[in-house]
Amino acid sequence: MAVACCNSKGFLRLFPIVLLFNTALVLVWRNVQQAQQLTQTKLLWESNERALMPEDDCSKYDNIPKEISPRTLELQELLKCRDRSLRFERIQHGSYWVLQNLVIGRKSRDIGCAESITYTTIGDYTFFDNLKPLVERWLAPVSFAIHAPGYDLKATLDSILYVRNCLDDNGLIKDWVSFHVYFPNNHMPDKVPFNMAQVLRRPYTCTFGNGTDVPPPYTLIPRSESYKNTANLTYPINVGRNIARQAVNTHFILASDIELYPSLGFVDFFLDMVAQNHSVLALDPLLPRRVYPLPVFEIASGAEIPNDKADLLALYQKKLAQGFHEKLCGQCHKVPRQKEWLNKPFSEGDQLQLFSHTLREKQFRYWEPFYVSDNTEPLFDERVTWEGQSNKRIQNYAMCLMGYEYHVLHPAFLVHSPGIKKATEGSATRKKYATEMTKFINVKIKPEYHVLYGRNSACQT
Ligand SMILES: *[C@@H]1O[C@H](CO)[C@@H](O)[C@H](O)[C@H]1NC(C)=O
Ligand SMILES: *[C@@H]1O[C@H](CO)[C@@H](O)[C@H](O)[C@H]1NC(C)=O
Ligand SMILES: *[C@@H]1O[C@H](CO)[C@@H](O)[C@H](O)[C@H]1NC(C)=O
Repeated sequence: MAVACCNSKGFLRLFPIVLLFNTALVLVWRNVQQAQQLTQTKLLWESNERALMPEDDCSKYDNIPKEISPRTLELQELLKCRDRSLRFERIQHGSYWVLQNLVIGRKSRDIGCAESITYTTIGDYTFFDNLKPLVERWLAPVSFAIHAPGYDLKATLDSILYVRNCLDDNGLIKDWVSFHVYFPNNHMPDKVPFNMAQVLRRPYTCTFGNGTDVPPPYTLIPRSESYKNTANLTYPINVGRNIARQAVNTHFILASDIELYPSLGFVDFFLDMVAQNHSVLALDPLLPRRVYPLPVFEIASGAEIPNDKADLLALYQKKLAQGFHEKLCGQCHKVPRQKEWLNKPFSEGDQLQLFSHTLREKQFRYWEPFYVSDNTEPLFDERVTWEGQSNKRIQNYAMCLMGYEYHVLHPAFLVHSPGIKKATEGSATRKKYATEMTKFINVKIKPEYHVLYGRNSACQT
């Protein structure tokens, strides 16, 4: 009997194969379904999150096709950088938790990597009064890392809402500032926001019922009553500096202290300079690496913040301006050929140029410059606290060992928020920290850096 179809022997042999084939089909089909479901949930979740945002925080910017300028195209080609959107992340950073990009600037979110420069900076809630003057002058992304242990997070979130909603008549803070908060894992706040929408949904008021303005939340709890001070915590300033640097989406950054305001138009001046003369960058990897410091000045309290070099010189003539910390530590902030820098003729709208350059040696061995960089210079050593001082010197020490060149810009500059710092006795605790830190730097940090970067007796911490 030879019935092909019912050949039971043949069927028995085929059966496992058919079964396997069917199982495989079912599995594939289920996978496809799951994947579809996942994308749907994800889309739903994202659209929910977006829907929860106040109207002006995303929709206005979502559907506008971005125009890319010829300069941006050229620089992107030159720098070979990749565009990336800022997004919220919870990050473990050593013994700290970081809510990175908890609140994102609406224009900063999708800025092109070669389109702008990010000002990266640090503080706690008591520094928020600097944001408005800073952003009005920088007009580009600001990446702001805020130390907020324990209940300081509440004052911080209230302050974020206040500057965005009560101070921001022209929307510049909402456009440009991205806020990150961080706290030690053994000083957690009781509760942290789940996402940006949850921060923005917090209640706030700008004026009382009787029409008077509500005082800024960052003035309500003095620093002496902050959680940080009550718990005797030190200020991990370099942790904040690194968090702010690591959270950006532009190729160039200016890592700065929030009280330092730039002269006007800086970002465009700098990018124009690079686009017009590529050799201001040391693109050949065999060349020594470069950063681009700006001279820093301080002005008398009550003086108008200078917009350009003409304004600065006018203040100089009235003896209302001087080099930053000139009386406290002249060597820490003087740029090479500072006198010539001041005397160099200029006219309005002058292009930015590289004025002078130096290594961080000899008379510049104590220099603590603020500079534009491509964010590849060493990170800040996180074992150094604000109380321990020397918190910027260690990084420049590493850069000295690496042979970094510092090319000073003209005619742009930074100016400290008005008020000339006088020598103060400094608290006994801070002195104690500083002495201990200096010892720690000498016996621990420096030997490590010698292993990592080599030795050079011309370099100083
Ligand atoms: C307005 O109301 C606030 C809060 O109730 C109060 O602190 C403030 O003194 C009032 N101002 C005036 C001018 O009445
Ligand atoms: C903080 O330091 C002060 C003075 O040294 C001390 O009295 C206080 O108990 C300390 N507080 C904490 C929470 O350790
Ligand atoms: C371009 O920059 C380099 C480095 O600063 C400088 O030496 C050169 O003179 C500049 N070229 C022009 C045309 O400005």
